[in-house]
Amino acid sequence: MDLKRPCSVLFAIMIAFSSVCLANPSSKLKWRKQNNEQSNNCDVYQGSWLYDDSYPLYDSNACPFIRKEFDCLKYGRPDQLYLHYRWQPTACDLPRFDGVNFLESVRGKKIMFIGDSVSFNQFESLLCLLHAAVPNSNIREDKNASIPTVIFENYQVSIMLFHSLLLVDVEQEDIGRVLKLDSLKNGNLWKDMDVLVFNTWLWWYRRGPKQPWDYVQDGGTVLKDMDRMDAFRKALITWAKWVDSDEVDTSKTRVIFQGISPSHYNGSEWNEPGVMNCSKETQPISGSIYPNGLPLALHVLEDVLSGIKKPVHLLNITTLSQLRKDAHPSSYNGFRGMDCTHWCIAGLPDTWNQLLYTALIN
Ligand SMILES: *[C@@H]1O[C@H](CO)[C@@H](O)[C@H](O)[C@H]1NC(C)=O
Ligand SMILES: *[C@@H]1O[C@H](CO)[C@@H](O)[C@H](O)[C@H]1NC(C)=O
Ligand SMILES: *[C@@H]1O[C@H](CO)[C@@H](O)[C@H](O)[C@H]1NC(C)=O
Ligand SMILES: *[C@@H]1O[C@H](CO)[C@@H](O)[C@H](O)[C@H]1NC(C)=O
Repeated sequence: MDLKRPCSVLFAIMIAFSSVCLANPSSKLKWRKQNNEQSNNCDVYQGSWLYDDSYPLYDSNACPFIRKEFDCLKYGRPDQLYLHYRWQPTACDLPRFDGVNFLESVRGKKIMFIGDSVSFNQFESLLCLLHAAVPNSNIREDKNASIPTVIFENYQVSIMLFHSLLLVDVEQEDIGRVLKLDSLKNGNLWKDMDVLVFNTWLWWYRRGPKQPWDYVQDGGTVLKDMDRMDAFRKALITWAKWVDSDEVDTSKTRVIFQGISPSHYNGSEWNEPGVMNCSKETQPISGSIYPNGLPLALHVLEDVLSGIKKPVHLLNITTLSQLRKDAHPSSYNGFRGMDCTHWCIAGLPDTWNQLLYTALIN
């Protein structure tokens, strides 16, 4: 199901050429208040999906930023119910996404998504949401930048995507590509941002030709392989140490980690044994509970986050996304492959961004 291979290669090349990609002086603006916890007692990540005719928030045909992997309507998805759901927290209402207010709240700031193709999904959704709010303003796509960047010039807001499958480093050595669980060098490029939205998970269990490394280095030991969940945890701890280091000034930089984005290839997880993909799914699971429960990876992530001293917000999208077995491209993408890993745009990532918006303005 690796539909992202071509772009991964492209990004690898782009990153290789990265040099003065962040030449702009970093914004000196401070966040009005640094707020890790919800300001009220409402857990906005606990809720259910409701049909709402006022959704989707934009017409995907009018958005110039959607890659062919995610543009489900363009590639012929016939059912459109999936576009009309709104996330309703149990204990409160979410503010509707207001693109102009978003841009004003982050005026002069730089927002960077860092992670795998799921980050790409969220990045493009945010671009579509903001474009729909200010379609006639000056929006410049910095095509030459080593890091894909879109600048909303009237607000001096930059939205960037830093492609990193594993967050920690993979280095080419004589023996091959070595995954270094203790090494995180790209932090130098991240620390000057005002908002960082991290994600990694998809690639930790890849084997064979899709495995993005040949050896794994854990401390002084180089191994051919190791328990993948242990490796994931160790990499997250390396990242967590970076957040807690002097490098990162959380009075300037909001640090957010996206929860695990689920895929839907195993119907047993949602009480439809025998179903092997999302091709027939046209509606979310009703209610607040995903039958199979939370993935172990989310518990590992929560565990690591709870050990960080500085404020880090978990964009806890796992359960609400698990409920959206209907929101994947399935075969309605530019490759015609079956994709129950990524998400249609417009669609579920718009809700992730609505929650990001809620976290930032609170
Ligand atoms: C994330 O959301 C799930 C589902 O609502 C919940 O069980 C879990 O405790 C949440 N995690 C955190 C750290 O809030
Ligand atoms: C983009 O990069 C190419 C190759 O480095 C260069 O020739 C071209 O002038 C650049 N364009 C802009 C607009 O910077
Ligand atoms: C599918 O999910 C069920 C329920 O969690 C699990 O028992 C089974 O091993 C899974 N099958 C595969 C192929 O992962
Ligand atoms: C999708 O799943 C159905 C059964 O649920 C199966 O018949 C079909 O071959 C699968 N398609 C792909 C491309 O995996």
